[in-house]
Amino acid sequence: MPEARIVVDLDVPGPTISKHLYGHFAEHLGRCIYGGFYVGEDSAIPNEGGIRLDVVEALRALEIPNLRWPGGCFADEYHWKDGIGPKADRPAMVNTHWGNVEENNHFGTHEFMALCELLGAAPYVNGNVGSGTVREMSEWVEYLTRDGDSPMVRQRKANGRDEPWKVPFWGIGNETWGCGGNMRAEAYADLARQYATYLKDHGDNKLYRIAAGASDDNLAWTEALLKAVSCLGCGRDPKNLFQAISFHYYTIAGSWEHKGSATSFDLDDYYRTLAKAQDVERVIRAHSALMDAYDPERKIGLVLDEWGTWWDVEPGTNPGFLYQQNAMRDALVASVHFDVFHRHSERLVMANIAQTVNVLQAMLLTDDEGGLVRTPTYHVFEMNKGHHDAAALPVHVVEGRTYDLDGTAMELVSASASVKDGRALVSLSNLDPSSGLDVVLDLRGASSWESSARLLTASKPQAYNTVADPDAVAPVPLTVEPEPRGLKVTLPPHSFATVSLVL
Ligand code: AHR
Repeated sequence: MPEARIVVDLDVPGPTISKHLYGHFAEHLGRCIYGGFYVGEDSAIPNEGGIRLDVVEALRALEIPNLRWPGGCFADEYHWKDGIGPKADRPAMVNTHWGNVEENNHFGTHEFMALCELLGAAPYVNGNVGSGTVREMSEWVEYLTRDGDSPMVRQRKANGRDEPWKVPFWGIGNETWGCGGNMRAEAYADLARQYATYLKDHGDNKLYRIAAGASDDNLAWTEALLKAVSCLGCGRDPKNLFQAISFHYYTIAGSWEHKGSATSFDLDDYYRTLAKAQDVERVIRAHSALMDAYDPERKIGLVLDEWGTWWDVEPGTNPGFLYQQNAMRDALVASVHFDVFHRHSERLVMANIAQTVNVLQAMLLTDDEGGLVRTPTYHVFEMNKGHHDAAALPVHVVEGRTYDLDGTAMELVSASASVKDGRALVSLSNLDPSSGLDVVLDLRGASSWESSARLLTASKPQAYNTVADPDAVAPVPLTVEPEPRGLKVTLPPHSFATVSLVL
């Protein structure tokens, strides 16, 4: 069996891995909101105020730190005032981005805030720049967060909510270079400044305003936004109008027209997918380096508020609903992303997988009969929970394994580690689809520990969970063997493991 050696410096705690790197995203798209999170109060499926309780229960186990809503592309055609008040009076609209279906606005502001409360997640509201107005967005903030008496507060109270909510995160449009208005970078940068000006902090609610950022490595977009709030060596105080800049990075292994199947793929597809997932590190590095030039004190956060796999939709489903299966390969895409996020947690402050239920790389797949499936990706989020708000530890894969992909050595071993409250967590991925791996963890900086480990793998990388077979891919205990330098675990092919240490 091939061997890998990984050194972990247990006594060199680095930057905090924000729990918000484990954030989520719920868009009015396909069956994410309707049928996923929300079934309506009259549904036979157990619910509270229309919100599916099995979904809430499954997600509570992930300790979701924040939830982004209502889009995505939908955000820039959403008018929040259509989604408040008695449901029968709420005007309908057409969701032009996603399936051209009618949106009845039954899931609106109050329902979203109730969902966040049930989940224990911080709301991340994405405002409408593309087809909205400054006044509309400003009034939404007032409606949500202002106390006392004001026109919006009176409306909120009339709709049954006396107390203001806390809304920490606010997005200023979405993909404004595309579905959010097809703007040019400088034009949007000016709009972001203008909108941010009227996104007020009411009372003690402090907004973290996130400007809509680039696709992938479009550094020119990021630079235009940086120039809008800072300048290179010009001696002026930076304008603190928005606090973060986002970007989106999807793992699309094929072409946009033929993205490939979630479950029917060969080894070449497998390697290309994971290589694309690993490439997020190059993209984060590039954005971070640019930000370091304009913002050396790292006051502006980088937010990856859409990431994950994007496959062809499941055969027979609405192409506009983006419903896809989720296999062991997707779990490894997630584990690789998290290793990268942990390494860049000084600048990367938040990330949101797309999307939580029934859309793209989902945690949960549901059906209308009350069936619910936890996907392999769900289990990675659950197994990695110990990294939330922990200090990143230096990890060195000193003897790893590689695969020659088009002349480039692709790393087949991925790892990261963190420590919090006397407990360390090490995440390990063996990306080799054909060969197991003995991993020696060379643990430095501690003399004794208690260890335990968990393993996520499957008979093949194409394996996935269904209502009939919900645990085809589910975590199991993994044996930890003592080793003179630390400990040893054996990872099967295409597997993810976590090793917990009580120090
Ligand atoms: O997540 C699906 C879509 O992908 C989002 O609506 C959009 O922002 C992105 O293009």
